[in-house]
Amino acid sequence: MLDFKKIINLSVKPDLYQKGTAIMWTDSYISKQLLKVHLNPDVDLASRKKKTIESTVKWILDKASKSNLKILDLGCGPGLYSQLLVKKGHQVTGVDFSEHSIKYANKTAKENNLEIDYRQQNYLELEDHEKYDLVILIFTDFGVLLPSDRAILLSNIHGALKPGGFFLFDVLNDNQMDQKVSDKSWDISEQGLWREKPYLVLSDSFLYPENKVVLYQHCVIDTDRCETYRFWTHFFSHEDLKNILADNDFDRIEFYENVLPESDIWNGHNVTFCITSKSS
Ligand SMILES: C[S@@+](CC[C@H](N)C(=O)[O-])C[C@H]1O[C@@H](n2cnc3c(N)ncnc32)[C@H](O)[C@@H]1O
Repeated sequence: MLDFKKIINLSVKPDLYQKGTAIMWTDSYISKQLLKVHLNPDVDLASRKKKTIESTVKWILDKASKSNLKILDLGCGPGLYSQLLVKKGHQVTGVDFSEHSIKYANKTAKENNLEIDYRQQNYLELEDHEKYDLVILIFTDFGVLLPSDRAILLSNIHGALKPGGFFLFDVLNDNQMDQKVSDKSWDISEQGLWREKPYLVLSDSFLYPENKVVLYQHCVIDTDRCETYRFWTHFFSHEDLKNILADNDFDRIEFYENVLPESDIWNGHNVTFCITSKSS
């Protein structure tokens, strides 16, 4: 029996940062489906399009302008960036907590004779010490962390960088916040991204303007259970980022707009790339 009371409650705007009931990335069924989405070269979902990844890696290496870097790719997914960076002569460690993505990444590296150190790990538990010249976190993942987790991650990255090393990441900018909210929508499927069996998904989003946060929420209902997946998504100005990074002992910060092609869903108008350094 459907619990309508529960579903009605879910359509009410929750308090800021109230957690959902489940996590998408590590769910055994969903993460298998997500791997297929990552590997689709023509969509900007889970990972960006293949051509965009190639041009972003070229841009990153032009900016780094050094050879034989030790690079840490956080939230590396199936290793789409890691592979390209290793092919350009750098040493790469890729960290992701998705078992399916790391298995695929290891398999592909082996098949292509690439030496990449992939680790299945939560990057909030990273313990590496002064090992890397460059840490990257790509596809706006910085913005989906709760502020408390973001502080943990920044401290971990600071610890993992060599003195003078760089942290490079991308964020969604805070232009026209009211336009970031999507209309309510629903979908029903025999089998799909969310479940192996018939399910209904109710999607909604809520704006928290003072915090520059939009909650994107998907409530997935099947005959056995009803789960809510919440993505607390932060949008940033340059000033916001300067303050956050200064609070976490990063030194300088450079901003780059329009790194991404116009055709991307969240294109160069919406996405800012940032490079900051750990003081030497
Ligand atoms: C949007 S995908 C981007 C993947 C990759 N950076 C790319 O652009 O192709 C986010 C990735 O971060 C991983 N992830 C999210 N939270 C994580 C955490 N706390 N620790 C490790 N990996 C995490 C997910 O499993 C997923 O592979």
